[in-house]
Amino acid sequence: MSKLLVFGNEKGGAGKSTLSMHVACALLQSGASVGVLDLDLRQLTLRRFFENRAAFANTHAVDLPMAQIGKIDTKAERSEKREFECVTTGLMAQNDYVVVDCPGALTPYSELAHANADTLITPMNDSFIDFDLLARIDPETNAVKGPSIYSEMVWDARKARSLSGGKPIDWIVARNRLASTNMHNKRKVGEALENLSKRIGFRLVPGLSDRVIFKELFPKGLTVADPNSLTHLPSSMSNIAARQELRDLMVELNLPDFKVGF
Ligand SMILES: Nc1ncnc2c1ncn2[C@@H]1O[C@H](COP(=O)(O)OP(=O)(O)OP(=O)(O)O)[C@@H](O)[C@H]1O
Ligand SMILES: [Mg+2]
Repeated sequence: MSKLLVFGNEKGGAGKSTLSMHVACALLQSGASVGVLDLDLRQLTLRRFFENRAAFANTHAVDLPMAQIGKIDTKAERSEKREFECVTTGLMAQNDYVVVDCPGALTPYSELAHANADTLITPMNDSFIDFDLLARIDPETNAVKGPSIYSEMVWDARKARSLSGGKPIDWIVARNRLASTNMHNKRKVGEALENLSKRIGFRLVPGLSDRVIFKELFPKGLTVADPNSLTHLPSSMSNIAARQELRDLMVELNLPDFKVGF
């Protein structure tokens, strides 16, 4: 059965597109078939990434596993719900996984994606500004005071799902752009997230550090999951660690029947 993996967070710049392209390539390089759907209809970063990948494969005449790109027709006469269902049903019928990148704001399409997710991955920069979209905390004690708008939206999506008898959404918060310095902030945000994960029911995973390699291969449509014969990455400690972080993230996603193959 195909799985819908949704990357969402109403905070802009949290790493949704970056993580979605890395996870999509990790799945492809592990032998899975993948459909992708970009719901950020203005930026279209995920779609552009896969267009870059196709152009790279073409220019260098190399065999690269490609994702099937689904497209929302913004001029379609039908409702957003019908359009979303039509595109995702088509992608899910032909692929093991469908990776959906949401915009950094609530739109009808992103709401639909959250409501239909099998796994929801919320990347979060290691900052209390990003944390504020998940929950309010007491400035003195760091105790969680209550959920914020994004968590409430996910909560509503989960409630609707359980009322309709669907499988529960596996919600994962992945810390992103973790710094190798500023240990104090990292620890404080980590503790607050650990606390919150128990309160509102998400799984907290380490995610990715802040590394140039997670962005510099974008114009080629490649990632650290792709073979070194194509990326030509020097075998530095940082690049080896980057690959390992992506492997670890894939394991943490806990996808049924998935084995890391890169
Ligand atoms: N782990 C990382 N290491 C280094 N740079 C990163 C990392 N993750 C994201 N970035 C950079 O941070 C910026 C924001 O990332 P990205 O575009 O993936 O976020 P987003 O959540 O999709 O944003 P938006 O809400 O605008 O769609 C980009 O410049 C990206 O290259
Ligand atoms: Mg984005």
